[in-house]
Order: sequence, then C-alpha cells, then structure tokens
Amino acid sequence: MQKIKLLIADELKRQIDTINPETGLSSADISLMLEYPPDRTLGDLALPCFKFSKTLRRSPVQIAQTLSDGFNCEAVSECNAVNGYLNIFISDEYLASKIVPEILDSGDDYGKSDIGKGKTVVLDYSSPNVAKPFHIGHLGTTVIGHSLKLLHEFAGYKCVGINYLGDWGTQFGKLIVAYRKWGSREQIEKGGIDELVKLYVRVNNEISGNEAEGIAPNKELADEARAEFHKMEIGDEENIAIWKWFVQISLDEYQKTYGQLGITFDSYKGESFYTDKMPAQVEKLREMELLKIDDGASIVDLEPYNMPPCLILKRDGSTLYPTRDIAAAVYRKNEYDFEKCIYVTSSQQILHFQQWFKVVELMGYDWYDKLVHIPYGTVSINGAKLATRTGNVVLLKDLFATAIEKVSEIMEEKNPALKGRTDIAEAVGVGAIVFHYLSNSRIKDMNFNMDDALDFNGNTGPYVQYTYARCCSILDKDNGNSSSIAALKLTESTESALVKTLSRFPEKVSDAIAQYEPSVITRYILDVAADFNRFYHDCQILSATDPDIRATRIKLTEATKIVLGNAFSLICLKKTEKI
Ligand code: ARG
Repeated sequence: MQKIKLLIADELKRQIDTINPETGLSSADISLMLEYPPDRTLGDLALPCFKFSKTLRRSPVQIAQTLSDGFNCEAVSECNAVNGYLNIFISDEYLASKIVPEILDSGDDYGKSDIGKGKTVVLDYSSPNVAKPFHIGHLGTTVIGHSLKLLHEFAGYKCVGINYLGDWGTQFGKLIVAYRKWGSREQIEKGGIDELVKLYVRVNNEISGNEAEGIAPNKELADEARAEFHKMEIGDEENIAIWKWFVQISLDEYQKTYGQLGITFDSYKGESFYTDKMPAQVEKLREMELLKIDDGASIVDLEPYNMPPCLILKRDGSTLYPTRDIAAAVYRKNEYDFEKCIYVTSSQQILHFQQWFKVVELMGYDWYDKLVHIPYGTVSINGAKLATRTGNVVLLKDLFATAIEKVSEIMEEKNPALKGRTDIAEAVGVGAIVFHYLSNSRIKDMNFNMDDALDFNGNTGPYVQYTYARCCSILDKDNGNSSSIAALKLTESTESALVKTLSRFPEKVSDAIAQYEPSVITRYILDVAADFNRFYHDCQILSATDPDIRATRIKLTEATKIVLGNAFSLICLKKTEKI
C-alpha cells in the first residue's frame, strides 16, 4: 500500500499545485496524510482535506470537490468528495497486475526494507536470573524481544540479540550455602534447574522465616550466604566452580525452551561479565562529582529530575543492578556502535531504566538517547499473580508442555492419520501461547487463559496456523497447474479485499517497528486470515471452471501463504504446512 499511496500522492500533488503551486508539500508529505477509512465501503483510502484549507485558502468541501473532479491515476478506479474528504478506491486491475505479482516475485522478501541498512540495533531480552525459575513472567521479554529483533532484521538492521543473564549476585551465595547444606551433585545432575529452584526456595524461606507460623528469620544463614558470595567476588576457586556449574545447568534448561520457540542469541554476556568493567564507570562518576554519599551508600541524586536517587554502591562498597547496566551500556556502545540499544523488561522496571538512562546522560555520553526501554504488562494465570521466592510460579516449560499435550489430544481426534504429529503439536501448542500472548498490546496487563489460547475457532495461533495449512493444501492439490497465466482476473469483492489487506504488510512492519509493538503483526495476521477465509468460503478455487479465474485464485492463495508465512516468522510462530 505504501507504493500505491505514493502513486496517488503524486497525482494529488499535481492537482494541488494547480490550485496553489507554492504549498511546499511533497508527494511524500501528502502520502502520509492518506488515511484508512473506518468502513471499507467508504473507500480504500481517504484524504482529509481540512489539512489544506489554510494553505489553499478554500473550504475542505471545495478542495475535495476540485481534487476529485480532475483526478486521474492508474491505481484508482473511483474517487468521491464526501464532507471534505476525498475517498479513494483502488482499482482491481491495479491490484491484479501490480500487487499480486509483486508479492509472488518477492516471496520471502515481501515486506522487507533497507531502512536499517548500515545500522546496528542491540536488543537485550529474555535475560532470566540464573537458578531462579524461568516462568511465565519471562514470556513477555522473550517473545517481544525476539520479535523486535526479527522485525528490525527484516527492515535491514544488523541486530545483536543479547541474553543478559542474571548470573551474579547474592542469590548465588544463598544457593551455595543451600547446596552444601541440603543438596548433592547427583541430585542436581538428575533434577537440573528444578533442584536448584527447590534449594533456592528453601534457603529463602529459612532466611526470611514465617511470621504467621511463628518461625523466626534465620540471620546466621543470611550472613553465611553473604560471605559465600563475597568469596565469589574475590575469586574463590571452589565457589566459582560451583557457580559456573549452576549457570550451565540453568542454560541447558533455557535452551530447551528457546529451541521450542526457535530463538537463538548472539551473546550470553550476563551480569557477571561486567564485574571488572564497573570500577571505571564508578570512577568517572566520582571524578565528575556526580556521586553523593547517602547513609554510607554512593548515589546519584536525581531529585532535579523528579526521580529517587540512583544507587551505585552499597554501604559495603558492592555494586548494584544500575551500576552493572551502566557499565554494560558503555561496553556495548564501544563494541557495537549501536543506533539503538533496546531493553525489554516488565513495566515494573520502568523507573530503574529512567534512572540509569539519566545517569548515562549526566555522565556526558552523547548516545544516551539511543537507549530505549520497552516495558510490558504483567501476566497472571486465571487471576493469580506470580512470585518466584515462594516457588508459587507457573514455569514456561510446563505451560508449553500443557499446551502441546492438549493440542496432541485435539489432533488425535481430528486428524489421526497425520504424519509428524509430535513436531506439529509442538509448533501449534507453543505457537498458541506465543500468539495469545502477542495478541495483546504489550503494555496491557494480561490474564492468561489456556482454553482461549487453544481455541481452534477463535482468534488464535491454531486458527491462523490452520489457515496457513489450508493455503498449503490448496497449492498442493493444484500441484503447479496454474503456474503460468497471462493476467490475473479479479471478479469477486472478497478477492480484491484480500489483496488490499495483503498489500498492507510492508506498512504494518514499519508500524510494528515504530511502536515497538509485535501485536501490530499479530492483529494483521488475523485480518489476513479473516479475509482469506471469507474469500475461501465465497469463491470456488480448485473447482472454478474458468481457467483464468481458477488460476487467479490459486495465485491469491499463494500470495496469502507468502504473507502469512512472512508475518509468522516475525513473531516466533512456526509455519505449519499441515495440521
Ligand atoms: N535479569 C533481569 C530480571 O530478570 C532482567 C534484565 C534486563 N536487562 C537489563 N539490562 N537490565 O529482572
């Protein structure tokens, strides 16, 4: 649609120039003013003419009328002046001769652009805290983060996906104490991360006690944990070896989940990597006289910016989360010279990012405005909030496993003869969760409901994957019979409606990037699926008797398959040839 908009804008500019050649408006300016009418029957595009009344010194009604009178553009079949709007209809010939061939020729590249050429985007996402459960709260950062990476890559950016593992901190002191007290190597080798989580939960419960049950907090244990972490900080070999082992066990586990999602990272440099990179930044802060001592701790006062102070060093001189983030940002800027560095985390961390972004600015780093925080809302399951410390969590792997199992049951019932069912069930089960999650605007809190996610008849992953499989099956049955036709012939309104929707894909990609919002793609996929299914029900495809009409419909099916497939690939949804 972007190309059509420009074509139409050229013609509009020609017309506007005849009224007043000195408006200074370019075709590109005008193309940005074109809107999509809320109701398709009004037109495919509309130009609100009040935007020109000042420069053209006429009423919007007069302008719309003048523009429509002399309008002449190959892409447009009709245009009407209505209440100061110019309503424009795209011609079927144009859709058939330009849009569909463009999609078919571009294939996997349809929707790509090169606006990011030569620029690097760093994305920091997923980043779980090692040895703590990888739970449903991480779904957001993982799939939003990876989708944003895919979207930027699609727009030509070089992307670096970083899993900034939470692999350093007092929790390791606690874990080491717990391991020596209650754990064993065999147990952990067998049980993996689940064993670590059990130990973590147990040690936390002991340390904090339980007021209701009259169990006092265990202060000695807390001190022991601190001491063990301190030993790690000064390089104690034994503790470092255990820590490395814990990290590896956690990573092995995460890889399974990433594998199911088709996610890989370019770097796993976690918090621990920055331990030796913080002192230089702390020193710089001190030299610039940005550090204040407050009750023994070192802080940057952010009161002039209406924020609480940013904590840099604790009373005992140990570093904090913001300290590490500052050091990591400096390192990444030097390493990758990014155009943008994007951080995807829950909205609970908004203040943290605002604070340390400000500190980076105060430190005089002129790239502070290239740091972007992308927050997302919280997830609950059937209304229940999640907490990691108490162990009351829904693990991502369990959520996936449940979905896969349910999909298997449904498939066994619907299509028992299907080959490769295990892989398909995994693609559909995991896809259902991803799609359900990404259907929401990211900032909204969501209540996750498995039945909604898996509903094959709802606006769900299974439904759109099923639509994709339907396209594949039609193309399979046609078996290449319609590969050559001279010209496409659109005869039904559902056909043109489908092509118009398909033509909007490149614009949707730009919108999704501009808003950092994968849900733009999810919702678009639903539009395509709805238009395709309307077309499928209204029009005979394989059984159409007119060979040109049949071939046209096959081409439309192929174009739909391409667009759906490309869109799926942007949101971690697997393409399913069969369901
Ligand atoms: N590990 C953190 C957590 O689980 C998220 C890290 C986000 N990235 C960052 N650079 N702070 O809360």
